[in-house]
Amino acid sequence: MTPSEVKATLAFSDGSPTMELPIYKGSIGPDVIDIRKLYAQTGKFTYDPGFLSTASCNSTITYIDGDKGELLYRGYPIEQLAVSCDYLETCYLLLHGELPNASQKADFEHRVMHHTMVHEQMQHFLRGFRRDAHPMAVMTGLVGAMSAFYHDSTDINNPEHREIAAIRLIAKMPTLVAMAYKYTIGQPYIYPKNDLSYAGNFMRMMFATPCEDYHPNEVLVRAMDRIFTLHADHEQNASTSTVRLCGSSGTNPFAAIAAGVACLWGPAHGGANEACLNMLADIQNQGGVAKIGEFIKQVKDKNSGVKLMGFGHRVYKNYDPRAKLMRETCHEVLGELGLQNDPMFKLAMELEKIALEDEYFVARKLYPNVDFYSGIVQRAIGIPVPLFTAIFALARTVGWIAQLNEMIGDPEYKIGRPRQLFVGAVSRDVKPIGQR
Ligand code: CMC
Repeated sequence: MTPSEVKATLAFSDGSPTMELPIYKGSIGPDVIDIRKLYAQTGKFTYDPGFLSTASCNSTITYIDGDKGELLYRGYPIEQLAVSCDYLETCYLLLHGELPNASQKADFEHRVMHHTMVHEQMQHFLRGFRRDAHPMAVMTGLVGAMSAFYHDSTDINNPEHREIAAIRLIAKMPTLVAMAYKYTIGQPYIYPKNDLSYAGNFMRMMFATPCEDYHPNEVLVRAMDRIFTLHADHEQNASTSTVRLCGSSGTNPFAAIAAGVACLWGPAHGGANEACLNMLADIQNQGGVAKIGEFIKQVKDKNSGVKLMGFGHRVYKNYDPRAKLMRETCHEVLGELGLQNDPMFKLAMELEKIALEDEYFVARKLYPNVDFYSGIVQRAIGIPVPLFTAIFALARTVGWIAQLNEMIGDPEYKIGRPRQLFVGAVSRDVKPIGQR
């Protein structure tokens, strides 16, 4: 961290002594005011629920400029990575800081694609779930259970353990997601096929059966790979911060990633693509395009509790760059499958147009986010809606690991322990039960 010449001065209106706070400059983005000594020197905490103004760490992995609509992984714009690199190259970049050369890429691919099988006992573990369990409930369990299966990679402080845990998690997530899906529909699991691409292998595990092989369509595989790349990391979002906080206690990498999966599940985060498709289906059932006006009215009514899912973002106050790329993929996939006239897609396009012109959304800088389109693409590929968030988790696993590894390697890292403003009852005595 580079100290700035400028310092912040904190003054109090009650005459308490002022405090000088150092400021650090990042390579880009806002400077940060270092408040670590604030409590020791003033006896006061800062108050920032939802972390609206708080940097919880310094990081070299992902940079977002929400006003510009810019997303960089290790300095590379997402637009270039999505077009010029595949997902596994992106994984290598996130984990190691640089894009791989040809031999590093081949070696990394070989390592990942030779760890795709999961312990056979996992099948028995999976069998304990109800068949109608939500895939994210299953994934939270399966990823957490990995720590019970791979004992030789559970020491978070051992770089070799972290390295092998990283490869295992990236390699096995597609297998686990596909197994969770096959389980819900009562079909046999399909073992991975390591000579396929990462995305192609995933699609085959999803859609092949023992009686009929699946030959992945290149356009659809590219779309899947792009979904993975666009979701690979997104700096200190809720699930990543969860992984960091969970890992900061020294727990094993599988447990920390399982915590990330659990956090991602929520509809304000990774669950938005599922919620978005459900919203489109509801509007469709109520009359489709003709009902958009009524729906938008509800969205604008604060008391209705209805949100336009797939719109808005905590950081992007401009078009989400991932949404632009996903929109392009959406057209490609629907074209390939001859689904351009699909009523749900038409509805989504109409909704997008109306919302982008509406004063409510314009004034609040609410633009479509990646989930608005990724749901439509996944549905067209044949992925059932409840599985969308599990696929997001699969893709985000590498980001979580990269962030976790960065934290463990940071000499300044400490167990995360936020403080609070206590506004509850002060000390009082317990009364005997008859007097309460
Ligand atoms: N529909 C209607 N109004 C909205 C929406 C929306 N989707 N998003 C924000 N607003 C309004 C909000 O009511 C508020 O209005 P006002 O100023 O009048 O009170 C204003 O816009 C600012 O919203 P906010 O709640 O302060 O913004 P936030 O940064 O806390 O929330 C968000 C960000 C993503 C949780 C929210 O936009 C949202 O719930 N969107 C829908 C869910 C969604 O698509 N989430 C996926 C995010 S992208 C995937 C990921 O990275 O996880």
